[in-house]
Amino acid sequence: AYNERESLYIVQAFARDLFHKNLLQTDEGKSIGLSYFKERGFNQATIEKFDLGYAMDSWDTLHKTATKAGHSEDILLKGGLILQKEGDPSRKYDRFRGRVVFTIHNLAGKPIAFGARILTNDKKQPKYINSPETAVYHKSDVLYGMYQAKQAIRSKDNCYLVEGYTDVVSMHLSGIENVVASSGTSLTENQIKLIKRFTDNVTVLYDGDAAGIKASLRGIDMLLEGGLNVKAVVFPDGDDPDSYSRKVGSEAFQTYLNEHARDFIEFKIELYEEEAKHDPIKRVDTVRQVVQSVSKIPDPITRAVYVKESAKLLQMEEEIVLAELNKILLKGQ
Ligand code: CTP
Ligand code: MN
Ligand code: MN
Ligand code: MN
Ligand code: MN
Repeated sequence: AYNERESLYIVQAFARDLFHKNLLQTDEGKSIGLSYFKERGFNQATIEKFDLGYAMDSWDTLHKTATKAGHSEDILLKGGLILQKEGDPSRKYDRFRGRVVFTIHNLAGKPIAFGARILTNDKKQPKYINSPETAVYHKSDVLYGMYQAKQAIRSKDNCYLVEGYTDVVSMHLSGIENVVASSGTSLTENQIKLIKRFTDNVTVLYDGDAAGIKASLRGIDMLLEGGLNVKAVVFPDGDDPDSYSRKVGSEAFQTYLNEHARDFIEFKIELYEEEAKHDPIKRVDTVRQVVQSVSKIPDPITRAVYVKESAKLLQMEEEIVLAELNKILLKGQ
């Protein structure tokens, strides 16, 4: 007999295969799911590489198919693939229905969870429905796309960090494979440790909206605290890596990344600069914001380098930056 973890791996692989077959071999999947992916520019190779799929617009396709194939209801529930009706737990229904499916893999390439996107603009429904935590899926330990990215991250010695599933897939289409997604939640220590297994360099490419910029700022400080070298790129308002790369094409997208990747200090200064131009109080704010980030860097030598650099960029005496830094460091003890 299999233990629970093994059974979960098996049932998630079964679901992956079913979603994939739905997408490529059923009329509904082809006309709705596949055409959706094609419209977004996803080709056959990407569909295979990322195990993309489609969940039928039905309450029980997965439940029925899986139980017929010998998977227990218990394991389907534990895997988050089916749910039981509130107040009537004997009634079960599929979690993912009428959505395109992104498979989430572990580092070995085994499917461990799914994220499923709605196909309409119905704002009353969540855009994505994701698998819950299970014995084989701890969201806070996983970065979407790491299985497909890890070799490229090592060889490029850099990891692009994006927000969304579609950003990861799109960037592969643009020829950039060293990319993972935080999947719309704030970074965790374990995710940062995971990146560190492959590189010390991260470039944050969050969405060009207020939420994305706020998340970048938080992410940058966490990455610095983890001892990583951090750069960031800002996209025009409203764009994310996926929409921007489709707008300008792969080549211009790659150029944009190379030309707009800013060291975290410049990124922060640029963010505050506009407002700060005519307002000395805001300038003080900028200095504090930058020094705040510098204070997160654990290595004293790296920190010293950044004190020099930020003093230069902020046009401030190094002593003043250093004094401010020491104040923050003392407070943190
Ligand atoms: N997300 C989620 N649940 C939601 C909204 C978002 O889990 N209801 C996660 C997904 O991982 C998503 C990421 O947050 O990929 C970023 O969200 P968003 O920018 O809204 O989506 P995109 O990935 O840009 O998707 P699309 O381009 O299809 O709109
Ligand atoms: Mn296939
Ligand atoms: Mn967003
Ligand atoms: Mn987005
Ligand atoms: Mn998007």
